Amino acid sequence: MLVESGNIILYKFIKNVKNIRNVKEDGMGFSRLRQMFSRDIGIDLGTATVLVFVEGRGIVLSEPAFVAVDTEIDQITKIGKDAQAMLGRSSNKIEIVRPLKEGVIAKYDVTQKMIQYFYRRACGKSFIHPRMVICIPTGISEVEERAVIDAGIQAGARKTYLIEEPVAAALGAGIDIFNPVGNMIVDIGGGTTDIAVTSMGGVVVSESVKVAGDKFNEAIARYVRRKYNVAIGEQTAEKVKIQIGAVYEHKDAMTMDVKGRCLIQGLPKTVTITSKEMLEAMMEPISAILDSICTAIEKTPPELMGDILKNGIYLAGGGSMLMGLDKLIEDVTGIKTQRVKDPIKCVAIGTGRLLSLLDQFPDGGRIDLSRYRG
Ligand SMILES: Nc1ncnc2c1ncn2[C@@H]1O[C@H](COP(=O)(O)OP(=O)(O)O)[C@@H](O)[C@H]1O
Ligand SMILES: [Mg+2]
Repeated sequence: MLVESGNIILYKFIKNVKNIRNVKEDGMGFSRLRQMFSRDIGIDLGTATVLVFVEGRGIVLSEPAFVAVDTEIDQITKIGKDAQAMLGRSSNKIEIVRPLKEGVIAKYDVTQKMIQYFYRRACGKSFIHPRMVICIPTGISEVEERAVIDAGIQAGARKTYLIEEPVAAALGAGIDIFNPVGNMIVDIGGGTTDIAVTSMGGVVVSESVKVAGDKFNEAIARYVRRKYNVAIGEQTAEKVKIQIGAVYEHKDAMTMDVKGRCLIQGLPKTVTITSKEMLEAMMEPISAILDSICTAIEKTPPELMGDILKNGIYLAGGGSMLMGLDKLIEDVTGIKTQRVKDPIKCVAIGTGRLLSLLDQFPDGGRIDLSRYRG
C-alpha cells in the first residue's frame, strides 16, 4: 500500500514536471506558473470598511478603515479594528485617521501603509506577486487614481487594476451589467454615495456625493444636541442610527436610551429617543442623497430609463441598510427600489468576480468593462 501510494506520488510529481515543461515549451510557462502559485486579490477600499477577497478563498478580511498615528514620532501605531478601539480613548499625541473619509485620499502615505498592511495580513508573503483589483469611489480624481495604483504596487501587487465601486457592487449582487440593458445602482457607504447607470459593462451616468452613513451619524448628534441639549459622541450616534434609524412612516415607535453630557449642567444625562424622530433628524443628508439620485435620473438617456423603470433601482453599501430607505427612495422617484442581497459585502464579492476576467485587461489601470468580450 505504502509502495503504491509512493508510486502515485512519484507519478503525480513526474506528471507535474512534464506539465510545467510543456507549459514552458508552449511559451507561456511563467504566466501559467504564476497562476499555479499566486492568488489574485480584490480590495474594497471603503471609506468605512476595507474588505479583502482572495481568489479561491472568498472574503478573508473585513476591518474598519481606521489608522492610529503617533503624531510625535509621525508613525503608524495601529491599523483596523485595533485603531478603531482607540477612538475617543487615546492621548492627544495619537491621532485616529480614516484615510479615505470622504472618498478622497487625504493622506497618501497612510493609505498606502493601510493597503500594505491588509494585503500582508490577507496574503502573507508570496514569492510570486499577485494582481490586485481595488475599488474606488466614482468621484476620485486622476491624480488620486494614480496614487491608489502606486499604493497597490508598493504593497506588493505586480499589477493594480481599478474599478468603480457601484460597478463592482452590481457585479457582486449578480446583476448582469454586460447586457444592453440599463441598471441603476446606488451605493451608500460611510463617506460617499456613488450612483451609476450601467449598460453593456460601461458606466453611462455617474454621480457621487460626499454624503452617506457618516453624515447620518453627524445629523443625529446635531439633532440630540439641538432638541435635548445633550452632546453625544459619533459612535453613540451610529448606534442610534443602526438600532432605531427608521426613515419611513410607522405606527409602533422603537425607543432607545442614549447617554451623553448635558450642555447646560455639564453632567451626564440620559435621554430617550424614538424612531419617529429619525426622519426629521436625518432629513438633510437624506435629501442630499435623494437629490443626487434625481440628478442621475435626469441625466439618464430615455431608452435606459425605460429599463430602469422595469428593473428598479438597486441599493448597496452599509448606509443603504437604514430602515425604510428603500421605501422612501421608491416614494420619491416612483421607481421600484430594492436592497441587494449583501449590501456590505457585495462590492468585495464583485471585485472577486472580476479577478477571473483580468486576463482580458493585460495593462492594469482602470478597468473598462465595456471592452469585455464574454
Ligand atoms: N444596519 C445598519 N443600518 C444603517 N447603517 C448601517 C448599518 N450597518 C452599517 N451601517 C453604516 O454603513 C456605513 C458603512 O458602509 P460601507 O458600505 O462599509 O462603507 P464604505 O464602502 O464607505 O466603507 C457606516 O456609516 C455604517 O454606520
Ligand atoms: Mg463601499
